[in-house]
Amino acid sequence: MKLDRLALGIITSTVLFTVSTFAVTNTVKEESLGLRNTSIYSEDKVTVDKTQYGSDAPGTSKKIERAFENAPPMIPHDVEGMLPITIDNNQCIMCHEPAVAQSMGAVPYPKSHLTNFRPETKLDKDGKIEKDGKIITNTSDIKVVEKPLETLAGARFNCSQCHAPQSMTTEAPKNNFTPEFRGVGLNSKSNLIDNIEEGVK
Ligand code: HEC
Ligand code: HEC
Repeated sequence: MKLDRLALGIITSTVLFTVSTFAVTNTVKEESLGLRNTSIYSEDKVTVDKTQYGSDAPGTSKKIERAFENAPPMIPHDVEGMLPITIDNNQCIMCHEPAVAQSMGAVPYPKSHLTNFRPETKLDKDGKIEKDGKIITNTSDIKVVEKPLETLAGARFNCSQCHAPQSMTTEAPKNNFTPEFRGVGLNSKSNLIDNIEEGVK
């Protein structure tokens, strides 16, 4: 009986030793983390890839395929002088507004950008928060009602919050993600408003 216990002890410690050796040899070295390729304790050897946005003027650039279905498309053209977007200066709208986009050869922003997904929120006379005309105590009780708008939704005003120019680089790690598009052409246009409730209803 005593021997059995001893044997069991030896086996257990051997297993533990093997497991811990395995763990040690598989340690992730900090140099391999991130894009720096150097110790996180030294700034000396850090080389940063230059940010190089496309310089083709709007109308001459080539659209970039979507990363996945309904992804916000990357901005393929030069944005020199357009960013940052301010309340008084949003040049993106001047070309992408549906009423003018076609004549500018630009893609009109989609219906999702002409929709308000948020409840109308205000304080009532007693200082209570009203959403879509109702006093709500728990915000998860709100049923979101999509409201089509005549003009761009305020939540979409800051285009560069979601749409970014693409920087040309040779140093970025390879992207192994392969998107699956469910329909023909969905790698170059979007339809989010048509199936925004998918999986919810
Ligand atoms: C002078 C007109 C003009 C301005 C200003 C402009 N764009 Fe564009 N945009 C275009 C045109 C034209 C295209 C189509 C590609 C091309 O022909 O260069 C385009 C393409 C795009 C696309 C790609 C759409 C797709 O389906 O792939 C996005 C996203 C975009 N622009 C966003 C922006 C944002 C954000 C701004 C403001 C920072 C902006 N654009 C300012 C004319 C313009
Ligand atoms: C909150 C994030 C967000 C903001 C802000 C935003 N977009 Fe988008 N945009 C998207 C997403 C996501 C899509 C793709 C899905 C869809 O159809 O809505 C898209 C699609 C587009 C498309 C492609 C339309 C098509 O038919 O394929 C254009 C053009 C565009 N946006 C322009 C703009 C412009 C210009 C602005 C600023 C006025 C803007 N967006 C602001 C997220 C955003």
